[in-house]
Amino acid sequence: MKTRMLASLEVPAIGMGSASTFDVEDEDGIEVRRQIIDNCIESGSTFIDTSPMYGRAEQCLGVSMEGKTGQFQFATKVWAVGRETGQRQIARSFELLKTDHIEAFQIHNMVDWKTHLPYLEGLKDEGKIDLIGVTYTYPPGFPEMMEIMKTGRIQTIQISYNALEREAEEEMLPLAEELGIGVIVMRPLGSGALAKDLKEQPDLTPLAEFGITTWPQALLAWVLADPRIGILIPSSTRPERILQNAVAGTLPTLPSELREHVASEAQRCFSG
Ligand SMILES: NC(=O)c1ccc[n+]([C@@H]2O[C@H](COP(=O)([O-])OP(=O)(O)OC[C@H]3O[C@@H](n4cnc5c(N)ncnc54)[C@H](OP(=O)(O)O)[C@@H]3O)[C@@H](O)[C@H]2O)c1
Repeated sequence: MKTRMLASLEVPAIGMGSASTFDVEDEDGIEVRRQIIDNCIESGSTFIDTSPMYGRAEQCLGVSMEGKTGQFQFATKVWAVGRETGQRQIARSFELLKTDHIEAFQIHNMVDWKTHLPYLEGLKDEGKIDLIGVTYTYPPGFPEMMEIMKTGRIQTIQISYNALEREAEEEMLPLAEELGIGVIVMRPLGSGALAKDLKEQPDLTPLAEFGITTWPQALLAWVLADPRIGILIPSSTRPERILQNAVAGTLPTLPSELREHVASEAQRCFSG
């Protein structure tokens, strides 16, 4: 796995998301998540994004990573209104993830960000977290996110960016680059739709000599070809897909003509 810089932090090019995929508590479900965690370690996808918004995900991560927590970097979030509720939720994340250090602490969907920011800054000063960030999924949130970026008080943003959702290219990515803010890309597979909802099979022929053997790898390599991106966090409920997806993080940067090929195949084949 190649590494990249997310602001001041060295991270793997491909980490893992946990929304819905880790919201499980039954023993069979947890056993599959243990295999996912093992495959993250095997492939070097050792950066995990989660949130108290994802049901039992933080709890499931804590249980399925037992004894392996130290091999991972964590990004979680506060998703609460009010100072005390936020502080309790932040403390609970450390507890559930069974760690005393969280690399990236983000304000989920920018909810009550003015309240949470001073507390997170205190945790950063104490060395309990490395980076403070905000997240938002869709472009209507970008103007407020850019205001927060310009305060100089955050080091990461988490946004959607994939071969068919490219609004971030207009202002967000240039501003992040100008301010040295690290970019975490959520939904690199369009929450799975770009990989699954296809009316035709994409043509992978010109990508084969580049080491790409699956369409999801092509989509992930497309995002990674933008040097302003710090890390991608695709998620899956299937352990073998963690290994397959991670291959995209081992390849050299996709040349621009192949990047264009992937974007046009996404346009041609996506059925949505
Ligand atoms: N506001 C926010 O802060 C926010 C919002 C959205 C997401 N996020 C974060 O971003 C992460 C990623 O977003 P996401 O999970 O919505 O989207 P994603 O990673 O673009 O897509 C995940 C879906 O893709 C499918 N998939 C993965 N690998 C595949 C493969 N090789 N072949 C076919 N299908 C594949 C998975 O289905 P299977 O399980 O069937 O493999 C899964 O349902 C989330 O987990 C979360 O951590 C944050």
